[in-house]
Amino acid sequence: MARVFVLNGVNLGTLGSRRPEVYGTMTLDDIESLVAEAFPEVDLEFRQTDLEGEMVGYVREAADSDGLVINAGAWTHYSYALHDALESVNVPKVEVHISNVHRREEWRRVSVISPSVHAVIAGMGARGYVAAVGYVLESSGS
Ligand code: DQA
Repeated sequence: MARVFVLNGVNLGTLGSRRPEVYGTMTLDDIESLVAEAFPEVDLEFRQTDLEGEMVGYVREAADSDGLVINAGAWTHYSYALHDALESVNVPKVEVHISNVHRREEWRRVSVISPSVHAVIAGMGARGYVAAVGYVLESSGS
């Protein structure tokens, strides 16, 4: 059975009530259920944390899996620590953003983690996670 990590970073635990006009009304639990329903045959490891060091640990843990999907939230835009952690994990990796970060503030257009992943999805809402897991499974040959 394929094992894929779906990681959500800082502030993503507040989805549902956080700026619904930007992020929609689905909670993180709703999103995780959507992904789980789309891939019933996959062992999905869902993790969310507001602590950067904890996220680094999850990324390292994913080194033994078939791949990872990460929405790093605001860390995307400045965390070199996360960049370095992702860089050293040799599995298919996809960066996901619920919103289209390129249509928003200038600073959101910069991702310091993009160079360390294989693909980036932005603006597809919750469906972006489903697309990302699909890509990971195809890439890993699972
Ligand atoms: C986000 C976009 C980031 O700029 C923001 O800080 C988030 C969520 C998204 O999913 O659209 O927390 O990653």
